Amino acid sequence: MNEFERSRVREARILKIEQETPTVKTFELGVSLDAVPGQFVMVWLPRVAEKPFTLIKTGNTIAIAVKKRGGFTEKLFQLNEGSYLGIRGPYGKGFSWGGVKKVCVVAGGIGIAALVRLAEELAKSKVSVDFIAGFRTKSEVLFKERIENVANLHIITEDGSFGTKGICSDVLMDFLKKNEYDKLYCCGPELMMVKVLKLCKKFNLKAEFAVERYMKCAVGLCGQCCLDEWLVCRDGPVFSSEQLLKSKEFGKFYYTKSGKKVAIQ
Ligand SMILES: Cc1cc2nc3c(=O)[nH]c(=O)nc-3n(C[C@H](O)[C@H](O)[C@H](O)COP(=O)(O)OP(=O)(O)OC[C@H]3O[C@@H](n4cnc5c(N)ncnc54)[C@H](O)[C@@H]3O)c2cc1C
Ligand code: FES
Repeated sequence: MNEFERSRVREARILKIEQETPTVKTFELGVSLDAVPGQFVMVWLPRVAEKPFTLIKTGNTIAIAVKKRGGFTEKLFQLNEGSYLGIRGPYGKGFSWGGVKKVCVVAGGIGIAALVRLAEELAKSKVSVDFIAGFRTKSEVLFKERIENVANLHIITEDGSFGTKGICSDVLMDFLKKNEYDKLYCCGPELMMVKVLKLCKKFNLKAEFAVERYMKCAVGLCGQCCLDEWLVCRDGPVFSSEQLLKSKEFGKFYYTKSGKKVAIQ
């Protein structure tokens, strides 16, 4: 796809909406698009806003998984099958997996959306995948069957209502002690990713992380999504552990819609 096509807003009919958990809905959209796992599209609701979402399905139709957070996602949740929205993209740099044989994938909450297609592509390439997925509670568990089909899935809940009780980084420590991995992939709340990055450093393991920043243009023009010297929309959202170990802002700051620098909590 060339840059003109990528930047064109395409009208997409909502073909199917599924309520996956109390806070997450998936939307299947009637546009055809190919993308590397980890790349994202901008979703436009006219007179509301335009926001980034990773793709959980590509091909003749695409799909996104949306967690209800604020104004935009609330409006998206009010739409019905048959409604239309705008899509442009795909944008950004996705995950890479050349030469790996055994990997660990770590997902926190809705971060699993960026990793589900990756796990499927890894399985197609005959890579063995240990997949650690952390959720707040049982009712928020997402994509269980889909990931079990392609990976050794280990579910963790903070309240112990399903799977192992705890947090991803503690369980990951055990996995790293018992296994030799070629690479790790991670997406989730940034403070969780910081802990995972530290473990990767300790175990000398190369990793890739999908990072989130507030985005506006998604094409490297507005500077809204900066992380140190990088623009997350263009140079990311997937960054290597080597890059993030050098970052002074990862896990510490992000920029709000108005450009204010605020601490990540
Ligand atoms: C590359 C990329 C891919 C994404 N993929 C998905 C996805 O697949 N599914 C999904 O549900 N969400 C995804 N997101 C996040 C999604 O774009 C936001 O959930 C959406 O912008 C929230 O919009 P809102 O208006 O509903 O909430 P807002 O009102 O914008 O935000 C709600 C709350 O979240 C905080 N917040 C918003 N954006 C950020 C940010 N960038 N960093 C830190 N805090 C923030 C706000 O401070 C506020 O408290 C992705 C984000 C990026 C950058
Ligand atoms: S969102 Fe505008 S430069 Fe990244």
